[in-house]
Amino acid sequence: MDLRTRYLGFELEHPLVVGASPLADDLDLVRRLEDAGAAAIVLRSRFEEQLSPRRLAASQQLLEDDGSFSDALSYLPHADEFAVSRDEYLEQLLRIKRAVRVPVVASLNGTTLGGWLAHARMLEQAGADALELNLYQLVTDPAADSRAVEEREVEMVSAVCDAVLVPVAVKLSPYYTSLVHFASRLEGAGAGGLVLFNRFYQSDIELESLEVRPRLHLSSPRELLLRLRWIAILRGPLRCSLAATGGVHAAEDVVKAVLCGADAVQIVSVLLRHGPERLASLRSELGEWLERHECDALGDLAGALSLERCPDPAAFERAQYLWTLQSGRGGAHGEGGS
Ligand SMILES: Cc1cc2nc3c(=O)[nH]c(=O)nc-3n(C[C@H](O)[C@H](O)[C@H](O)COP(=O)(O)O)c2cc1C
Repeated sequence: MDLRTRYLGFELEHPLVVGASPLADDLDLVRRLEDAGAAAIVLRSRFEEQLSPRRLAASQQLLEDDGSFSDALSYLPHADEFAVSRDEYLEQLLRIKRAVRVPVVASLNGTTLGGWLAHARMLEQAGADALELNLYQLVTDPAADSRAVEEREVEMVSAVCDAVLVPVAVKLSPYYTSLVHFASRLEGAGAGGLVLFNRFYQSDIELESLEVRPRLHLSSPRELLLRLRWIAILRGPLRCSLAATGGVHAAEDVVKAVLCGADAVQIVSVLLRHGPERLASLRSELGEWLERHECDALGDLAGALSLERCPDPAAFERAQYLWTLQSGRGGAHGEGGS
């Protein structure tokens, strides 16, 4: 069965990519993921806050130690100016690149234009085949104007895309008033792909201690529906790659994402819950699904139910569909919004 797809310019055997997470922290796990057939692997994010000048200098030192990169590093102050500690992220990236053959994507998380962006270039120099820039920001300042926030994000994407030659994907949250417009601007700024969507880890209230505690829950398949809608909507206007992340737990979820227009899916929760080997069974189940439906190639389904090609576009376009709400089906499926 032909499951091939193209994501960020890479020819992948199938669309199952390991999403950014601690799964790539451990080299044995990374090897198991590759053995299970992972099409590509995304490392956990490196946060802007973790990249002080001192850290950047440490990163520079590491690449110098590793050999062949020195000519690319002249834009940074020399490491001697700072006390240097080892840069574990770059070290792990170098180790993974030596261990596996599949594309390895490094992830950066930041919200401002600043010196830390130089790290994008170092990740490339260390062998990252692509970068994923995570625009994960929770704006709480009442004076922050949404246009200015978006402008800064576009500038940042543009700065990263200008700094590196490898493809850059942008991982987004769904909370934009005009997502199609914003996504088109990101594409115009050089993004080779969009990853939809970030999951926000919610804060809960601990009633006994009256403390606010961050909660990290693994996803449920219901979360996929939001991704399906927006991938279907974005597929028509955008040429760049699209990856679904959030709620892909079964082969059927992959088929749905591809039908809406996804080029790849990024999975994390299902692998944390069942182990890296689940990736291999998902891949076989995907092939079996196609066989049962007499479809020779996954590519034949690509975007067949995107907004542009869907026989009933209103089903995607209307957030509150009268018939769905009145029949109670929205509530029954847990997606009825207000
Ligand atoms: C434990 C854990 C750590 C994660 N760390 C990151 C991260 O560093 N950067 C990032 O962009 N996403 C991170 N994610 C989000 C995942 O990459 C993924 O987008 C999300 O979990 C949705 O996919 P899933 O439904 O398959 O879990 C993390 C998720 C989990 C569960």
